[in-house]
Amino acid sequence: MIIVIDGPAGSGKSSTAREIADRLNIQFLDSGALYRALTFLWIRNNKPDKATFFEILPETDLKTEYRNQTFFVNANGDDITSDIRSHNVANYVSKVASWPEARAFVNQYMRNLVQKNAYVADGRDLGTAVFPDANLKFYMDASIEERARRRFAEMKNSDPNVTLEEVKDNLRSRDQADQNRKADPLKKANDAIVIDTTGKTFEEQVQEIILIIKEKLKL
Ligand code: CDP
Repeated sequence: MIIVIDGPAGSGKSSTAREIADRLNIQFLDSGALYRALTFLWIRNNKPDKATFFEILPETDLKTEYRNQTFFVNANGDDITSDIRSHNVANYVSKVASWPEARAFVNQYMRNLVQKNAYVADGRDLGTAVFPDANLKFYMDASIEERARRRFAEMKNSDPNVTLEEVKDNLRSRDQADQNRKADPLKKANDAIVIDTTGKTFEEQVQEIILIIKEKLKL
């Protein structure tokens, strides 16, 4: 079974999906973390040209695991879970995610996982491009001000020097890039249920989605 939650950065997809996974006792899959991992590896390899990067990428043993509300990412034995959240990675991730080769790699990785377990996954194009036959699709959104405030609060630990304005600028430019890229842009699927989280508490948005899941999937 696969439930997908798409939406722009900071709309609350990831934290909501984690909570849903825990309450329904299923796995959580963070597609953005996979794009961030590729971006981190590209930066760590000194930003090689695309062809070189996709030649060396298959040599990387990329492993993911969800436990204790954290989506762990490991590359060749290194735990890169917190490295992939840096502002530097955020600045390059939409570029890397616009490469069709990166999308093919991440999509294949996710489809392999979903064959083995029940998942709730969050991303940009899961309901449209990756899992068009998902059991249930949500599209989460919120105002840019609210999304920037949430993300800023989250980044205080990993990046104490970043400002609210920088976070807002990053969200704005990623929204732009994600919506306008040629390869699988951020887009609401026709059959996705829209959840606007502006002004809602975390518990309210989780409850709303859980109720819909239970009703539609008879869980
Ligand atoms: O958590 P946040 O919304 O900041 O972003 P993320 O989910 O970690 O995703 C980081 C970036 O990966 C996004 O800005 C997109 O450029 C890209 N991405 C994508 O293209 N397709 C997905 N399914 C998920 C993420």
